[in-house]
Amino acid sequence: MSPSPPRRAAGRLAVTPSLAPRDLGRPRAPAMAWQARIITLFPEAFPGVLGLSLTGRALKEGRWGLDTIDLRPFGLGKHRNVDDTPAGGGAGMVLRADVLERAIDAAQRGVPDDRAQWPLVYLSPRGRPFTQDMARDWSRAKGVTMLCGRFEGVDQRVLDQYAVDEVSLGDFVMTGGELAAQAMIDATVRLLPDVLGNAASTEEESFSAGLLEHPQYTRPAEWNGLSIPSVLLSGNHAEIARWRHEQSEAITRARRPDLMVKRKPS
Ligand SMILES: C[S@@+](CC[C@H](N)C(=O)[O-])C[C@H]1O[C@@H](n2cnc3c(N)ncnc32)[C@H](O)[C@@H]1O
Repeated sequence: MSPSPPRRAAGRLAVTPSLAPRDLGRPRAPAMAWQARIITLFPEAFPGVLGLSLTGRALKEGRWGLDTIDLRPFGLGKHRNVDDTPAGGGAGMVLRADVLERAIDAAQRGVPDDRAQWPLVYLSPRGRPFTQDMARDWSRAKGVTMLCGRFEGVDQRVLDQYAVDEVSLGDFVMTGGELAAQAMIDATVRLLPDVLGNAASTEEESFSAGLLEHPQYTRPAEWNGLSIPSVLLSGNHAEIARWRHEQSEAITRARRPDLMVKRKPS
């Protein structure tokens, strides 16, 4: 018999009936709240940084929910083994398809079949690069399930069978998918309505209009002989907006010419 799904729900009641104990110290998010489900060998890594500041407050207030699905109890034998040696030889270990299958099935209970409504993601350096557009799409879905790899990764057959979307945090290799999951959830959750105090700030920041953000300044007006650009102190909002836009274009052209090429004319 497969084990009951070992979930810890942070901020939301798990959809699946489960005998696993819930952390009753955390409030439950309403059933409609956006939800992240994370399959991981290290559930204790969550909520991690997501439990701090704006995302942490929103989690406590039930504006979004987080469930971790511990991979270990789905493992085989007395030691609950989840991995095995790579077919064809080579270094390291690979997470087994049969173990992952049962964890994914448990995670996906009650989830819409439409992947636009609920993406199923494997964090992977081979994946398509994560972008602000993806964060915005995911924030418009009902939730996301993320599979965190470890060791040399996961058996390819499970990715093919479940048509898993492989997404990368960047062109580097980390030890596991947990940090990537937290980074992507952070970028997504802050776009949910009512999570950031000032929604306008997400419209103006880097990538939202296809440009990098203009330089920011604050008090003191003079620091170490350096002044804030006078236009920002002029009170002329049209001039300030023009200056900021020019700065955004100049910085983007210098640092990320690829973004300028992709940009649609406004
Ligand atoms: C050591 S890595 C495996 C790397 C894999 N053998 C390769 O060369 O592509 C272990 C796990 O960390 C996660 N990971 C590592 N780098 C990542 C990245 N840049 N983006 C997303 N996940 C990453 C993945 O879940 C991966 O399965």
